[in-house]
Amino acid sequence: MDFTFSEEQLMIQQAARDFSQTELLPGVIERDDQQKFPTEQVKKMAELGFMGMMVNPKYGGSGLDTLSYVLVMEELSKIDASASVIVSVNNSLVCWGLETFGTEEQKEKYLTRLASGEVIGAFCLSEPEAGSDATSQKTTAIDKGDHYVLNGTKNWITNGNAAEIYLVIAQTDVEKGHKGINALIVEKGMEGFEIGPKENKLGIRGSDTHSLNFNDVKVPKENRVGEDGFGFKFAMKTLAGGRIGIAAQALGIAAGAYELSLKYAKERKAFGTEIANHQAIAFKLADMHTKIQAARHLVYKAACDKDKGENYDLSGAMAKLHASEVAMETTVEAVQIHGGNGFVKDYHVERMMRDAKITQIYEGTSEIQKIVISRSILKN
Ligand code: CAA
Repeated sequence: MDFTFSEEQLMIQQAARDFSQTELLPGVIERDDQQKFPTEQVKKMAELGFMGMMVNPKYGGSGLDTLSYVLVMEELSKIDASASVIVSVNNSLVCWGLETFGTEEQKEKYLTRLASGEVIGAFCLSEPEAGSDATSQKTTAIDKGDHYVLNGTKNWITNGNAAEIYLVIAQTDVEKGHKGINALIVEKGMEGFEIGPKENKLGIRGSDTHSLNFNDVKVPKENRVGEDGFGFKFAMKTLAGGRIGIAAQALGIAAGAYELSLKYAKERKAFGTEIANHQAIAFKLADMHTKIQAARHLVYKAACDKDKGENYDLSGAMAKLHASEVAMETTVEAVQIHGGNGFVKDYHVERMMRDAKITQIYEGTSEIQKIVISRSILKN
């Protein structure tokens, strides 16, 4: 496949690269250490148009394609995966779903603010007892005529506290199974909506992950996205695109760790020469580079499929599966190449190793991607 970038795509990639160096790199170690949300950086990313990249400009977005989006995700993730997951959730899981399935009123009321980055959003599917098994929703949205009454708990919600607008998946009719699930727009501040404590995480510590409690929250009917019972399909279709964003994040983490390792190996000396001259290190770099290039092709291919209007369930799942495995392998090797320095925070690669792990878990674990991939290839 030939990935020839347009002038515009190259400019956006460069803008994200520059932004990452000047705005994300300073303070990234402290934000990780203190679990500090990058509020100022998110504001600046909004100014650059990164919060609603693929949204039509008439709703406040940048009107760009998915390939531009993954180029930006890759660059941000090379430096700060906490910042990039905030971008990914807002773009792929919140803005895309609202633009594709929302009513005109919902788009005007919510999407415009989300796409411009005036506020950020969260996508609330996972529950204490429903992570991978997403059809087993315990959160209920009982139909009361002109509104729903929402009760339940959501877990591990990215942007949990920082968000203003939440897409909440809940069961309206248990008898109908996954066909009785709805997606509702919930606003921060609605009575009965409480934000639980912040999670203390292994990685992406600058991002904001909380549980959420809904106690008799009255949600107007006009806040339902799509037809009655469309909520599970809404979640699946939304996640299919989300997985491309996370695949790009994983790719960026891997590429960032590789770039640091390459530089380090050319500078650090041992046994009278730069360590890159030792085959043990040179072969590690060769493996890292090869795996990253393969991951890059899968990620760009999935983005191009989406841009061409082709089905991207399979290519997105393959991209996420492979890129996240590569992110994990590459970051472990990056720490090894850095030796004792790799184990301390100043050299960044230990953080990248911790950040890489979540890419094998969220928006569908590697095992879930294998379910999606195997079902897709076996049905043909
Ligand atoms: N597009 C459209 N419809 C889809 C679909 C897709 N990609 N995938 C499934 N569906 C539909 C199916 O067609 C089926 O509908 P019908 O009965 O009408 O045919 C329905 O959804 C149920 O599908 P399955 O029978 O395949 O359901 P399943 O119970 O076997 O589960 C699964 C399928 C793929 C395993 C799914 O449960 C899944 O993706 N689980 C993982 C959930 C996940 O990714 N969670 C991440 C949380 S979000 C997060 O991490 C965000 C964050 O903050 C970063």
